[in-house]
Amino acid sequence: MGGGSGVSFVAGLEGVVAARTRISGVDGEAGVLTLAGFPVEELAGRATFEEVVYLLRHDALPDAGELAAFRTALAGRRGLPAATVDLLRAAADSGIPEMDALRMTADTLSLDVSEDPALDLVARFPVIVAAYHRLLRGEEPVPSDPGLGHAANYLYMLRGEAPGEGSVRALETYLGTVSDHGMNASTFAARVIVATRSDFVSAVVGAVGALKGPLHGGAPGPALDVVFEIGAAGNAETVLREKLRRGERLMGFGHRIYRVRDPRADVLAAAAERLYASDADGDLYELALEVEETALRLLAEHRPGRNLQTNVEFYTALLLHGLGLPAELFTPTFAVGRVAGWTAHCIEQQAEDRLIRPQSEYVGAEDRRWVPPEERPSPRSGEALPG
Ligand code: ACO
Repeated sequence: MGGGSGVSFVAGLEGVVAARTRISGVDGEAGVLTLAGFPVEELAGRATFEEVVYLLRHDALPDAGELAAFRTALAGRRGLPAATVDLLRAAADSGIPEMDALRMTADTLSLDVSEDPALDLVARFPVIVAAYHRLLRGEEPVPSDPGLGHAANYLYMLRGEAPGEGSVRALETYLGTVSDHGMNASTFAARVIVATRSDFVSAVVGAVGALKGPLHGGAPGPALDVVFEIGAAGNAETVLREKLRRGERLMGFGHRIYRVRDPRADVLAAAAERLYASDADGDLYELALEVEETALRLLAEHRPGRNLQTNVEFYTALLLHGLGLPAELFTPTFAVGRVAGWTAHCIEQQAEDRLIRPQSEYVGAEDRRWVPPEERPSPRSGEALPG
């Protein structure tokens, strides 16, 4: 029995267009990502994160005066409610993972939202992530520096010292690159929540929950682990073949939309190359290139028709590692960038004001009748009763 509308079920909503948006465009066949009309390669290496946030919200880049005012407005919203900090301390005492702490404490931002909750969320995400990271290591959070831009201040709050220009540029590139990406799972979750006329904090908390999963934003840590496990280029084929033989997925490869190389991988690979040439371990960069090449060769053998290519997460791992961020911070840092897109989508969805309510196809039993419990057949022997 279907939904009665003549439309048929598509697993994973693959190929279904669920929204119209001016925020970003993804062409999976051509390998093109545009952010409000700008190719990601054009924008991410040049723009500051503030410019990207402004662009996604206003559909235009700010002029110098607008940018200065926007930068000040964003920096002025970094303060966390006292209860948020208390909860971060309690979470650190329990040692819960970073993404769970981000999800729980993002919820508490409802305690103090301004007339622009979207901006509050963007401004405070890095403050939460950096504070929790330090608390987990038994260190006090570093207060934010209002004189530093969004990306520089995030690194400053994590490290406790002002970052160099190369590091800031690399992080700006990363945050801009991942700021939005069409109707990905977490953005869809946020839009579904806002479409019920719920609030932005609820929507972003839902999005954080969706981003956490290893098939979405949770892949870069495991992707880097594989590079470390391989250790030397000569081991790549043996280790990767064994993983595929065991039915494991190679993290950092494959994508629901892209059938060619993810354009974000190129932007981040170029940024990683620059960073590793100046500040980081060049051998690791070379090893990662070898691992990528071997993985692509083996994936082509493994799933010949599928064209599994490098996705954004592989070079995310390398770039963020080069910035000195431990793997536990990879997905939270993704959230620090993606919250720009989530909130822009919330604004767009709110303006559209149309409930998102798809259908389901019923595939369960038919024509059942209720009978008193004592007349129901007992479970077959050996069959467990539900708890
Ligand atoms: N390694 C090995 N095999 C793979 C991989 C991979 N990385 N990706 C896909 N495959 C296989 C699948 O097992 C599947 O085989 P099957 O038909 O025998 O089951 C086949 O290729 C087709 O893949 P799909 O499952 O249809 O791909 P889907 O579009 O559902 O999944 C996904 C996309 C989740 C990204 C997948 O490629 C994957 O799991 N990759 C590894 C995790 C990862 O890197 N995630 C980050 C994605 S980027 C982001 O979200 C920001």
